[in-house]
Amino acid sequence: MTEAELYSVYYGVYMPAGLHSPRSLNYFSEFSFRPDDILIATYPKSGTTWMQEIVPLIVSGGDPTSVETLPNWNRTPWLEENQVYTLKLEQRPSPRTFSTHFQYGMMPKSFFEVKPRAIYVMRNPKDVFTSSYHYHGMAAFAVNPGPQSEFLQKFLDGKVMFGSWFDHVKSWLGAEEKGHIMYITYEELITDLKDCVARIAQFLEKPLDPEVIEKIADRCLFVNMKKNNMSNYSKVSCEVFDLKKSEFLRKGIAGDWKNQLTVAESEYFDAVYRDKMKDVKYKFGWD
Ligand code: A3P
Repeated sequence: MTEAELYSVYYGVYMPAGLHSPRSLNYFSEFSFRPDDILIATYPKSGTTWMQEIVPLIVSGGDPTSVETLPNWNRTPWLEENQVYTLKLEQRPSPRTFSTHFQYGMMPKSFFEVKPRAIYVMRNPKDVFTSSYHYHGMAAFAVNPGPQSEFLQKFLDGKVMFGSWFDHVKSWLGAEEKGHIMYITYEELITDLKDCVARIAQFLEKPLDPEVIEKIADRCLFVNMKKNNMSNYSKVSCEVFDLKKSEFLRKGIAGDWKNQLTVAESEYFDAVYRDKMKDVKYKFGWD
């Protein structure tokens, strides 16, 4: 199926129409944040599910009940997705945890007024591309990626779900008020998960004993998260996610792009990256 059949356009970017109705988008735009809400913001395939495991465990002081009993889309729901208005978020006790795949400029008015804490996770876009390529091949609501070179061009042009990686990252890095936003990369999580858990806990003002930090980091290891049916998407119908084509928790490594992109594709990617990111000062660690 084509983009015209599967996607709608919101703020100029494609989004899977099956998951985002006019009603849910309206709910999002009118959403009222509380000051102690926590928002996980990501471009898809950057480590959303990982953070949806880490943050609730920090908030609960290491108690695994929520990650063992609630699927990630209910535990830390996307504020823009269809099911959102069925979840009675207004009745949830604080601190509530949410997710979004939207750019900074698409946040509801209340986000800018209330300034809840937000954690923005970024990942090497070549690995985002690689993960997306497999994801687009297995998710029924996504346009089939087709030949890799075509999908690469679409990705670099932002003609994929949730638009351009470049626009997304630059929008969040360009936030006028950064005091309530923590920026972290997938690669930092890979390199030292324990340290990242400690830093996130500090950002959330949730002091934790070293043993608790260690336990949380251990639970959030790829191998362990893969076994958690509340986080590995095994509960989603195989008509929506064909996990036989590609698992959602697929490889969980940094640098898999080296197995995916040809030398020419990688060089082309680098050239586009250099041009689009030339004014960005942030040190990601992969560039
Ligand atoms: P790969 O496809 O490269 O394996 P998102 O949740 O934003 O959609 O991102 C999905 C990507 O994050 C997938 O990447 C998935 O395997 C990876 N991921 C999820 N949990 C992880 C973990 N605990 N450790 C490492 N990678 C993880």
